[in-house]
Amino acid sequence: MKAIVCPRYGGPEVLEFRDVPIPEPKADEVRVKVLATSVTSGDSRMRAARFPPGMGLIARPFLGWRGPRQPILGTEIAGIVDAVGVGITRYRPGDAVMAFPGGKMGCHAEYRCVAESGPIAPKPDGLSFAKAATLCFGGSTALHFLEVAAVAPGDRVLVIGASGAVGSALVQLARHRGAHVTAVCSARNADLVRGLGAEAVIDHATTDFRGDPGAYDVIFETVGSMTTRDALPLLRPHGRFVAIAAGLRDMLATIGAPGRQGRRVIAGPATERPEHVQQLADLVTGGTLRPVVDGTYAFDDIAAAHAYVDTGRKRGSVAILLDPAARD
Ligand SMILES: NC(=O)c1ccc[n+]([C@@H]2O[C@H](COP(=O)([O-])OP(=O)(O)OC[C@H]3O[C@@H](n4cnc5c(N)ncnc54)[C@H](OP(=O)(O)O)[C@@H]3O)[C@@H](O)[C@H]2O)c1
Repeated sequence: MKAIVCPRYGGPEVLEFRDVPIPEPKADEVRVKVLATSVTSGDSRMRAARFPPGMGLIARPFLGWRGPRQPILGTEIAGIVDAVGVGITRYRPGDAVMAFPGGKMGCHAEYRCVAESGPIAPKPDGLSFAKAATLCFGGSTALHFLEVAAVAPGDRVLVIGASGAVGSALVQLARHRGAHVTAVCSARNADLVRGLGAEAVIDHATTDFRGDPGAYDVIFETVGSMTTRDALPLLRPHGRFVAIAAGLRDMLATIGAPGRQGRRVIAGPATERPEHVQQLADLVTGGTLRPVVDGTYAFDDIAAAHAYVDTGRKRGSVAILLDPAARD
């Protein structure tokens, strides 16, 4: 099969189109013929070894010194089951599915095997494969941090980076929990985030939102533009600062310090739970969650998609089509 391989860390030009063996499903796995996948901020970071501040030396022994230990990037897919292991009962060849191998990656390929009990769910009817393939990276991250921050009805929530993959899911799902959402993005994305449910929008290019003490119960920071020291005064007592693009300093700040009046810092990797995939599919089917797709690229044009994601300005997600019909 064709796969996109990242043999060493670097710019989009390091990516290579290669022939690799088609994986055989184990007894408890289904094999998915991939019709669409995505290039996420996670793929872009991994390809470029652009680890959060202070995390480089910690990350490389686990993720690879000179290049990614898993050289086929890509965290999520949508496609058709084309083979099943002997123990499979829930899926049959021909089923349309979406899956989120997440940090295990390996999705930028024509086939990907996934455990039946793992992060896989039937694709919602009426949702394109392209949209289904962009739902989980931002969606699962949002579900995790909303849960950990215990966002409750009436909470005043600030989402910094509201127009990104994680931010666009956070805005919608925080609203669904009954929170009042203020979104931070640039002016060109104001209508988008209002359409997702934000009641107030702040343009980060023209407005300094650091001068509003005690305004929020929860701040979700998906950009890395606000430090813990800046964020804590904006929180009410017992508020939560959720540093999703956290560097080492934010991680250390989770330990706590005197004088915070119960304000907490939450940081670290999101837990990728298999049940999130079905949950996200249900939220789409129920009309609560709408995947935001910025644009689509052909599989053999994936380097251009990486270059765009590298800008840090995409809206929602970028889909990669292995079959042009996956767009609709
Ligand atoms: N902790 C975890 O487990 C975890 C999981 C997933 C992702 N992440 C991290 O979370 C971060 C966000 O991921 P993502 O995929 O959502 O990123 P993304 O889609 O690339 O975010 C792009 C968005 O950020 C906005 N933006 C850029 N600068 C901004 C600023 N100064 N203020 C407000 N908005 C700004 C842009 O909007 P404008 O163009 O309008 O400015 C753009 O729409 C990444 O650092 C990623 O590595 C962490």
